[in-house]
Amino acid sequence: MTFLSQFSLLFLSLFYVFTFQNILCNNLNQLHCNEKDRQILQIFKEGLIDPSSNLITWSTQQDCCQWQGVYCDNTTNRVTKLDLSDQSLKGEIKLSLLELQFLYHLNLSHNSFNVISIPPIQNDVIFGSNLHYLDLSYNYDISMDNLHWLSQLSSLRYLDLGSTNLRNVTNGLQSSVMLPSLSVLILSYCELNITSSLKHVNLTSLVTLDLSGNFFTSKSLHWLFNLSSGISHLDLRGIFLSGNFDLRWLSQLHSVKYIDLYGIDLHKETNWLLTMPASLSDLHLSNCQLTNISPSLKHVNLTSLVTLDLSFNHFNSKLPHWLFNLSRDLSHLHLKYCGLYGEIPSSLFNYQNLEYLDLSGNMFSGSIPLNLGNLTYLVSLKMDYNSFSGTLTDMHFSRLHNLKELDLSNTRFTFHFNPEWIPPFQLKRLHLDDTNPGPQFPSWIYTQKSLSVLSMSSSKLSFVAEEKFCGLITGIDAVIDLSNNSISGEISNTFLNSYHIILGHNNFTGTLPHLSPEVGYVDLSHNSFTGSIPHAWKKLEYLFFISLWNNNLFGEVLMILSYLKYLQVINLEKNDFFGTIPNNMSRYLEVVILRSNKFEGSIPPQLFLLSDLIHLDIAHNKLSGSIPQITYNITEMMADNYSTFLLAEDDNIDFYQKGQVYDRELDLDRRTIDLSTNKISGEIPSELFRLIQVQTLNLSYNHLTGTIPKTIGGMKNLESLDLSNNKLFGEIPENMATLSFLSYLNISCNNFSGQIPTGTQLQSFSVSSYDGNPELCGAPLRKCSMKKNVVNTIERRMKEDGEFDEESLYLGMGVGFAVGFCGLFGSLLTFRKWRHKYYRLLNRVYDQLYVTYMLKFNNFRCC
Ligand SMILES: *[C@@H]1O[C@H](CO)[C@@H](O)[C@H](O)[C@H]1NC(C)=O
Ligand SMILES: *[C@@H]1O[C@H](CO)[C@@H](O)[C@H](O)[C@H]1NC(C)=O
Ligand SMILES: *[C@@H]1O[C@H](CO)[C@@H](O)[C@H](O)[C@H]1NC(C)=O
Ligand SMILES: *[C@@H]1O[C@H](CO)[C@@H](O)[C@H](O)[C@H]1NC(C)=O
Ligand SMILES: *[C@@H]1O[C@H](CO)[C@@H](O)[C@H](O)[C@H]1NC(C)=O
Ligand SMILES: *[C@@H]1O[C@H](CO)[C@@H](O)[C@H](O)[C@H]1NC(C)=O
Ligand SMILES: *[C@@H]1O[C@H](CO)[C@@H](O)[C@H](O)[C@H]1NC(C)=O
Ligand SMILES: *[C@@H]1O[C@H](CO)[C@@H](O)[C@H](O)[C@H]1NC(C)=O
Ligand SMILES: *[C@@H]1O[C@H](CO)[C@@H](O)[C@H](O)[C@H]1NC(C)=O
Ligand SMILES: *[C@@H]1O[C@H](CO)[C@@H](O)[C@H](O)[C@H]1NC(C)=O
Ligand SMILES: *[C@@H]1O[C@H](CO)[C@@H](O)[C@H](O)[C@H]1NC(C)=O
Repeated sequence: MTFLSQFSLLFLSLFYVFTFQNILCNNLNQLHCNEKDRQILQIFKEGLIDPSSNLITWSTQQDCCQWQGVYCDNTTNRVTKLDLSDQSLKGEIKLSLLELQFLYHLNLSHNSFNVISIPPIQNDVIFGSNLHYLDLSYNYDISMDNLHWLSQLSSLRYLDLGSTNLRNVTNGLQSSVMLPSLSVLILSYCELNITSSLKHVNLTSLVTLDLSGNFFTSKSLHWLFNLSSGISHLDLRGIFLSGNFDLRWLSQLHSVKYIDLYGIDLHKETNWLLTMPASLSDLHLSNCQLTNISPSLKHVNLTSLVTLDLSFNHFNSKLPHWLFNLSRDLSHLHLKYCGLYGEIPSSLFNYQNLEYLDLSGNMFSGSIPLNLGNLTYLVSLKMDYNSFSGTLTDMHFSRLHNLKELDLSNTRFTFHFNPEWIPPFQLKRLHLDDTNPGPQFPSWIYTQKSLSVLSMSSSKLSFVAEEKFCGLITGIDAVIDLSNNSISGEISNTFLNSYHIILGHNNFTGTLPHLSPEVGYVDLSHNSFTGSIPHAWKKLEYLFFISLWNNNLFGEVLMILSYLKYLQVINLEKNDFFGTIPNNMSRYLEVVILRSNKFEGSIPPQLFLLSDLIHLDIAHNKLSGSIPQITYNITEMMADNYSTFLLAEDDNIDFYQKGQVYDRELDLDRRTIDLSTNKISGEIPSELFRLIQVQTLNLSYNHLTGTIPKTIGGMKNLESLDLSNNKLFGEIPENMATLSFLSYLNISCNNFSGQIPTGTQLQSFSVSSYDGNPELCGAPLRKCSMKKNVVNTIERRMKEDGEFDEESLYLGMGVGFAVGFCGLFGSLLTFRKWRHKYYRLLNRVYDQLYVTYMLKFNNFRCC
C-alpha cells in the first residue's frame, strides 16, 4: 500500500468515527431541532456578516438548538429565544425571523447591523405572535422609515429600539398600532419625532416609558398620557423641545414613581409640581434652568421621595426649608452646581438613610456639623468646590462604615485627624486636590486598601512614610494624581498599576518605577528621577501620553519609542538622553518635545508625515543633516479649515515662544515648529512654508543657507519667526509684510541684504531683529544709500506690479473701517487670545486683503 492510500484510509476511518459518534450523541440527548425553525434561522444567517466568527457553531453539522445564542424549549424543542447581543455582527437583520412560531425573546442589541428588512405582512403567515421581548437597541446604523410591522406583535411586553435611527419614521405608529400588552417602551436617542409618531398608539399597559434624547414639537404631551396614564417610570432626559412646554399633564400620571426631565427648560414653569402624586419616589430635575423651585415644591406631598436631583440649576439661595422636611427615606440628594450658599445646618444630616450626597460646586461656607458621622449608610460624599472652612476631624467620619467615595477638593477645611485613626470605611475614590492636609501624608490614607482613584494634587504634601506609601500607590488600579506637591522619596522598585499616573512637580528620586502594561497616561515631569528608561516600557502598548520633562534621565532611549504605537504626546525635554530619533514612531503623535537633550543624527522624515502633529520641538540638541526634503503631510498644520485642538486641562504642556514659557491657557492650540540650536544645514525646504497654520517657527542657531522664499507670505498665522544665527542671504521678501499676526521677528546674524520692505509692519520691530546683517538697510536700520534704494524699489515694483495697485485701492477703504474698528474693538486687542480669534473671524467676514492692508497702514498703533 502506498503511503497516500494509507493516509486516506486513516482519514476516512477518522471521519466515520466522528460522524457516527455525533449521531450517537444526538440520539442519546434526544435533540432534534425543528426543521422549519432551522430553515428560518438559516435564512436569517444568510444576511449576517460575522467578522469575529462568533457564529461558528451555526453549521449544518450541529443541531440548531445548540447554536450560539439559540435556546429551545426543552420539551418541544422549538426555538423560544435568540440572544445574539454584543457579538460584533454586521449586515442585515431579516425579520422573517419572526416567523419562528414560538419565539418569545429576541435580543440583537449592541451590534453593528446596518440594514433591517421587513417581509410584507401576509395574514396566513405567523409573525411574532408569541414575542414578548424585542431588543434591537444600539445598532446605530439601522434605520427604519415605518414601524407598522410592530402592530403584528400583539403579545409584546418589552420593546427597546434605543439608539437606532428612526429619523424618517413620520407616520409610523399611527392609527392601526395596538400594543395593549406593552409595558416597557424604550425609544431613547433614536431621533424620533414623537409628536408625529406616537399620537395614536394604544399604550394602555405602559409602565416604563423612555423617550430621552428625541424631538417633541407639540407643546403638550397630554395626548400621550391620555393613552398611557398608568406610567410609573418616565424618562424624558435631553428631549429637544421647540416652544414652551406645558407640564400640567404630569398631574395625570396618578401612579408615577420616577420622573427624569434632565435638560428641559423649566424656568418659566411654576406650580406644575403641585399635583404630583404622593407615590413619587425619584425626581430628576437636573439642568432645567430652574431659578426657584420652592413655590413648586413646598406644598407637594413628597412623602415617598427617595431620590432628588436638582443639579446644574441657578437657585442663588440658601438651602430651602422644605428640603429638610422630605421623606426620612431620602437616599440620594444631588445638589451639584446649583448656586446654593450659606452654611449646612445639622438637620440635613437627619436623613439617616442618605447614601449619595453631592453638594459640589456651590458656594457653601462654614463648617460641617458633627452629626455627619451619623450617616451610616452614606456611600458617596462630595463637597468639592465650595468655600467650606472650619475643621474636619475623624469624629465627622466616625460611623460612615459604607463610605466608598469622598471628594473634598478645592475646599478650605483644616484637617485634624488623629494620626492613629483607623477609618471605619474602605474608600474606592478619594479626591483631596487643592486642600491642605500636609505636609505629612495623612496616615489614615495608608489604611485604605481598595483605592482605585487617589487624587491629591496641589495639597502641600512633602513627607511620606516610604514603605507604606509605595504599598499604597501600588494598590491603586485606575488613577493616581499627586502632582504639584513636594513629595520626596524613591519609588524605583514600586510597581504602579494605574492607567493614569500623574506624579509631576515633586521631588521623587532614584530610577523610574515599573508600570502596568495597561498604562495610558504617565506624567513624571519635574522630579529628580535618574537612570534610563526601563526596557520593559517598550511593552506599554496603550501608552498615549508620556512626559519625563525635567529630570536627570539619560541613555539611548528612543528605540523604545518605536514600540509605543498609540503615542500621541511625548515630552522628554531637559534630560540627558542621546542617540538618534527613530523613523517609525507612532503615527498618532500630536506633540513631540525632545528639547534640550543630546540627540544626534538627522531629523527623521517621518516627523513631517504625521498628520495630527501640532507641536514639534526638537531644539537644543546635536541634530545635523538637512531638514527633510519630502512632500509634507502634517494635515493639522496645513489644513485651511482650522480645527481647534483642545488638550484636557491637566495635560501639562508648556509652549515656547521667544524662549519664554507661555501662558498655558492661551496657547493650548499653538502650532509650533522649533528646530533651533542644532547643527542643521542645507536650505530651508519650501515645503515648510506650506504649513500655513504654524504660529511659531524657530530655526535659529543652525547652519542653514539659501534665501527666504516668497511663499513665506502665505503663512497667515505666523506670530513668531526666528531665523537668526544662520547663513541665510538675499532680500527680505516684500510679502513678509502681509503676516498680520507677526509680533516677534528675529533674522539677525545672517547675510541678508537690500532694503527692509518699507511702509509696513516690519518697521515696528527693533534694530535687534535685523542686526548682524551687514548688507541690510532701511528703517529701523540705517538708511539705504540713495542709488540702491531707487534700484530696489523699481525692481520690486516691476516684480509685484498688480499687488501695488490693489494696495492703493484698499487704502481708500481702510480709513473709515479703521476708525470704527479701533473705537469698538480696541480693548479686545490687548488680549492676545481675543485678538487672534477676532482676526480669524474678520478674515472670514471681510476680504483677507482688506484687513491686512488696514493693519499695515495703521500698524497696530491706532489703539
Ligand atoms: C426544562 O426547563 C424547565 C424550565 O426551564 C426546567 O424546570 C426543567 O428542569 C427542564 N427539564 C429538563 C429535562 O431539562
Ligand atoms: C439584550 O442584551 C443586552 C446586552 O447583552 C442586555 O443588556 C439587555 O438587557 C438584553 N435585553 C433584554 C430585553 O434582555
Ligand atoms: C431619510 O429620508 C431621506 C429622504 O427620503 C433620505 O435622503 C435619508 O437618507 C433618510 N435617512 C435615513 C437615516 O434613512
Ligand atoms: C415633527 O412632526 C410634526 C408633525 O408632523 C411636524 O410639524 C414637525 O415639524 C416635525 N418636527 C421635526 C423636528 O421633524
Ligand atoms: C386601548 O386598548 C384597551 C384594551 O384593548 C381598550 O380598553 C381601550 O379602550 C383602548 N384605548 C384607546 C384610547 O383606544
Ligand atoms: C384626554 O382625556 C380627557 C378625559 O379623559 C379628554 O377630555 C381629552 O380630550 C383627552 N385628550 C386628548 C388629547 O386625547
Ligand atoms: C402624603 O401622602 C401620604 C400617602 O398618600 C399620606 O399618608 C399623607 O398623609 C400625606 N401627607 C400630607 C402632609 O398630605
Ligand atoms: C414640614 O411638614 C409638616 C407636615 O408634614 C408641616 O406641618 C410643616 O409646616 C413643614 N415644614 C416646613 C418647613 O415646610
Ligand atoms: C447624631 O450625632 C450627634 C453628634 O455626633 C449625636 O449627638 C446624636 O446622638 C446622633 N444621633 C443619632 C440618631 O445617632
Ligand atoms: C529634593 O530631594 C533632594 C534629596 O532628597 C534634596 O537634596 C533636595 O533639597 C530636594 N529638593 C526640594 C526642592 O525639595
Ligand atoms: C497623509 O495624511 C492622511 C491623513 O490626513 C493619510 O490618510 C495619508 O495616508 C498620509 N499620507 C502619507 C504619505 O503619509
